[in-house]
Amino acid sequence: MNVSAHAKINLTLRVLGKRPDGYHELESIVQLLELADTLQIDDADTLIFTCSDPALENEQNLVVRAARLLARYNAIPRGAHIHLEKAIPAQAGLGGGSSDAAVALIALNELWELRRPFDDLRQLAAELGSDVPLFLDGPTQIMRGRGESTTPVVHATPVFVVLGKIAQGLSTADVYARLQAPTLAPTHAHRQLPETDAMVRALQQGDIARIAAAVVNDLEGPALEMITELYRVRQLMLEAGCVSVLLCGSGSAVFGICPDEPTAHAAEAALALACPWTWSGRFLRWK
Ligand code: C5P
Repeated sequence: MNVSAHAKINLTLRVLGKRPDGYHELESIVQLLELADTLQIDDADTLIFTCSDPALENEQNLVVRAARLLARYNAIPRGAHIHLEKAIPAQAGLGGGSSDAAVALIALNELWELRRPFDDLRQLAAELGSDVPLFLDGPTQIMRGRGESTTPVVHATPVFVVLGKIAQGLSTADVYARLQAPTLAPTHAHRQLPETDAMVRALQQGDIARIAAAVVNDLEGPALEMITELYRVRQLMLEAGCVSVLLCGSGSAVFGICPDEPTAHAAEAALALACPWTWSGRFLRWK
């Protein structure tokens, strides 16, 4: 079988504080994009993993870790040949590795006829990484906690975006460390943030100007301090007509919200000056 593993951007990402377990408590609206890796999964006696990017073809790949985690539920040992065709760059903040892992869990659950309930898959996903569970759900989600809790936001707005990634990547752990967020009380509880409310409303109204005005990412400040070249990427996108520009997750890719498709194409062409990797396309939509 062939399955798509979509990339994400964080339309909002507020860090509420550092938790006693060392992770950061977040509230974030995550939007999947049409951009996707492809996993080709076939029956095999053992687990064989191949990847279009040789640097990612190893036992530490989240796809292999997802397969090994799920294989524990097989009464008799079973394998699979998984080929991963990468389109989403690594260390970009686009969630490529997490998305691949989530899709592998769903596909292998089916291939091996395990019939594990969705809640079990969510738990395994959370073990693999903070933002793996969100890729089990629909194209737009509010993500809370360290990433394990998600709530769908239903909207059908066609939005065009452009992405650019400079050669240098960013490690999520390094960016969070730079943020120096305050420590959160163990009893912390909060109401939904006004930034989240504003983005949900803008998405539901399908109002591009409001969506553009409501984007926010607390990780952008530390990332810009770490790589000043990101200012140039931002500037190129704004000059090319993007209505707003923001760091993708913990970076180092940057996205620009575009008023229409021609602007997205023009912005992508302009970005080639600074970025070895670019993409333009649409938000993934609810079916
Ligand atoms: O969970 P995952 O392994 O993907 O996270 C990578 C790193 O990012 C963690 O080790 C942690 O330093 C940081 N992180 C965090 N708070 C989150 C998610 C990730 O501090 N909510």
